[in-house]
Amino acid sequence: MTNPRSPLAELEARVKARPLPRHVAIIMDGNGRWAEQRGLPRVAGHREGSESVRAVTRTARRIGVEALTVYAFSAENWARPDDEVDALMQLLADYLDSERAEMMENGIRLNAIGELDRLPESVRGRLAAARAETAANRGMTLTLALSYGGRQEIVYAARAAAAAKGAELDAEDIEAALWTRGLPELDLLIRTSGERRISNFLLWQCAYAELHFSEVLWPDFRDEALLTAISDFQGRERRFGLTGAQLAGRARDCD
Ligand code: FPP
Repeated sequence: MTNPRSPLAELEARVKARPLPRHVAIIMDGNGRWAEQRGLPRVAGHREGSESVRAVTRTARRIGVEALTVYAFSAENWARPDDEVDALMQLLADYLDSERAEMMENGIRLNAIGELDRLPESVRGRLAAARAETAANRGMTLTLALSYGGRQEIVYAARAAAAAKGAELDAEDIEAALWTRGLPELDLLIRTSGERRISNFLLWQCAYAELHFSEVLWPDFRDEALLTAISDFQGRERRFGLTGAQLAGRARDCD
């Protein structure tokens, strides 16, 4: 007799049986509140949040997501108190040291987007080394958005496209110059902690992404919360500007 599966294993099996989002992005919010609720310093929330990054990366890889992009530090986060910024940079450095072996084992390619030259050398050096070491991995691309702003990304891309094409530039030229070029189209954007904003994350890429807002604070966001978000995505009808009838017609044509 086979063992009955746990509800979590059932959920994972159901999610894996349906078309998965190829590219999932996450606004990891609620670390500070998680710490406050426990009478701990904010950095304790960020530390537990790093554990969620590890757990969610492992689960996304296991079920077959191709690309996972996490908002680890926004361009605006530089304005936080110095000790919090320093603690976040230290956590990133620790994360890059501790995760390289597992990334290699699981075929994860590490990528980073944002104004990376603003990062301290302690992070930049480790990032460059981890990106070089994992460059040939093909299992899943994990992108850390660091010192990242969506408007800034569009400005850089528009400048590069204008330099190449002048006033004739079109949307494809900008798309090809974005920091996310080469990644699959964004399918699902998740924001944790009950907030319902985009906060300058992947503004261009969100055009046709499905949005999922979870009440769970990021340090508590683990397998079940990720699978729940993906299951929600799988229940959506994605129309890309078409009507429901047009989509049904296309599905019939493909049968
Ligand atoms: C938002 O929570 C979270 C951040 C600004 C940083 C996210 C960083 C991590 C999860 C840890 C380091 C990352 C990696 C990849 C190891 P908040 O502080 O704004 O929370 P609050 O809204 O409750 O105050």
